[in-house]
Amino acid sequence: MSDSANKGRVVVVGSFNIDHVWALPALPRPGETLAGTYHTGPGGKGFNQATAAARAGAATAFVCALGDDAGGRLARELAAGDGLDLRALRSAEPTGTAGIYVDADGRNTIVIGPGANAELSPAFVGEHAAALDAAQVALTQLETPLESAIAAFARARDAGGSTLLNPAPADAVASDALWALTDIATPNETEFCAQLQRRGGDALDPDALAGLDDAALHAHCRRLLAHGSVVITLGKSGCFVSHANGALRGDAQAFYRVAAAAVKAIDTTGAGDAFNGALAAALARDPDAAFGEHVRYAVRFAGLSTERAGAAAAMPSDAELRARFG
Ligand code: RIB
Repeated sequence: MSDSANKGRVVVVGSFNIDHVWALPALPRPGETLAGTYHTGPGGKGFNQATAAARAGAATAFVCALGDDAGGRLARELAAGDGLDLRALRSAEPTGTAGIYVDADGRNTIVIGPGANAELSPAFVGEHAAALDAAQVALTQLETPLESAIAAFARARDAGGSTLLNPAPADAVASDALWALTDIATPNETEFCAQLQRRGGDALDPDALAGLDDAALHAHCRRLLAHGSVVITLGKSGCFVSHANGALRGDAQAFYRVAAAAVKAIDTTGAGDAFNGALAAALARDPDAAFGEHVRYAVRFAGLSTERAGAAAAMPSDAELRARFG
């Protein structure tokens, strides 16, 4: 078996953004002008997840769209540094951007300007079918056009791979066609509530979600994705896992919680992305292990990412994770 086969292969289809970040004591309210500490760095849910998957040890291809500008050049440089197999459409639009506020508790709010990300076409995804065919796991989010996500998942499924959907951001629409092609979905509290309601489920309060009892949460997850597994990431409350009947992915229980890792968070930007990239890498590396083991790995990986500022730049390596948690 070749080295890259041992590592497992992941394809991430998604966004790259230049993040403009202001750290300040409290998130701004309407009408307020506040002073914060500014920094900029690489981000975009797709790039963050691809970087996480690569640093977690998977041979990772990243299919994206970049502008012909400084942001695009930075993406190429960083991808090379992390050994990412970058497959970038060259767009006439500017590279994607995000404006991010981070408060003293490490919480954030984010607004994105899609730019080149909106140009990532199903046809371009189709040009990289060989990468999708070779991957054990295809991972995507909703910062790229829906039809491109569908094209990626359809191809990955045809080739026998698993599909992992991070239905983020919360205001993005995932069609029935995309849900039908999804094996595992990984929303956070806000994304879960938004997507559940869009699919005809109950209107739930994201702030109260972690406090629901397990059986009720499981029932809501089944409503979101009847045929697949759902992992709701719950920040400090860890995460909740729910499997479809008869498809427990090596776990003993149909639903359970995994506690958050003990970390000192300074910036949660990209923590969900860290979770997704690490989960994809773990699943690709060892598809026969119990799903819960992979989730525990991803929870620790995400926790460690919050101890550093930034998004893609904050992703730890597999070695750092093992040194910290054993
Ligand atoms: O999930 C965090 C990411 O969301 C940021 O890096 C920003 O670019 C947006 O895509």
